[in-house]
Amino acid sequence: MASLRVLLRGFRGPLLAWAGCSAPRSFAAGANFEYIVTEKKGENGTVGLIRLNRPKVLNALCGGLIMELNQALDAFEDDPAVGAIVLTGGDKAFAAGADIKEMQNYTFQSCYYHNFLARWDHLTQVKKPVIAAVNGYALGGGCELAMMCDIIYAGEKAQFGQPEILLGTIPGSGGTQRLTRAVGKSLAMEMVLTGDRISAQDAKQAGLVSKVFPVETLVEEAIRCAEKIASNSKIVSAMAKESVNAAFEMTLAEGNKLEKKLFYSTFATEDRREGMTAFVEKRKANFRDQ
Ligand code: HXC
Repeated sequence: MASLRVLLRGFRGPLLAWAGCSAPRSFAAGANFEYIVTEKKGENGTVGLIRLNRPKVLNALCGGLIMELNQALDAFEDDPAVGAIVLTGGDKAFAAGADIKEMQNYTFQSCYYHNFLARWDHLTQVKKPVIAAVNGYALGGGCELAMMCDIIYAGEKAQFGQPEILLGTIPGSGGTQRLTRAVGKSLAMEMVLTGDRISAQDAKQAGLVSKVFPVETLVEEAIRCAEKIASNSKIVSAMAKESVNAAFEMTLAEGNKLEKKLFYSTFATEDRREGMTAFVEKRKANFRDQ
């Protein structure tokens, strides 16, 4: 089995190149990163777990961490065994925002010419579903990163906030946009203009997170949800994700049109046929991502 895996890995590059993909990206699981830790979880390794790992500075997001995060996301995206990804931090902090010490001496010119935040929303390009498991602080860029994920689960002591105003700046990676869409204008304005944080319970009530769990079981629960997602067809999950995300970009009429096109497209997949056939034959579907 192990040698088969090695053999398949050897074939991966040319296959991807043939399929018109960019050069293969290195495997994330087990790779040596400085600011993050990656693992494969779930019974058959179908879940890619990424843990932000700068505990001394509450996982402050430095440029190096963002680069590593993007590499890990790309590697899990390319890994055919992985069907969903969980992004988490530590018990005290998911991430306390962009690294203030790194940003302290930036100028307008350096931000503008070097496209400071250009790679910070790479997560939104990932086709596989991503679940944020947030314990502790999710502040500034940390809250923005969680909001780029498809689902947010929170530990009961989590705190969400956009405190940039207290530093003399404003959110720069979607905070004013995604937060407003998630919780509505009044609460978003209050958080962005005062810098006040909200609890996990308030975040759930406002619709920012879907579920709240005890701190110690949060990641496990997120992995369980990711495993469930990974057991479905990857190609159809990607279509479902695209369709839900379109609700944030389009009018209702345009969104409904796209949804119908994607619904019709599922009928071009073997997995759609398998899903309905399995139902009729009263057995579990065996999706092959085709
Ligand atoms: C750099 C940070 C940091 C950050 C915490 N630390 N947050 N370093 N950037 N964002 C460091 C502290 O300097 C300290 O290092 C160590 O982490 C522990 O933090 P403490 O403040 O001692 O902990 P505590 O008293 O428990 O307070 C926790 C906290 C506070 C409430 C989360 O650290 C805090 O307010 N952090 C800043 C939060 C913030 O403003 N985030 C938004 C950043 S701007 P030392 O070396 O002193 O021990 C942003 C812009 C986004 O995100 C733009 C687009 C991406």
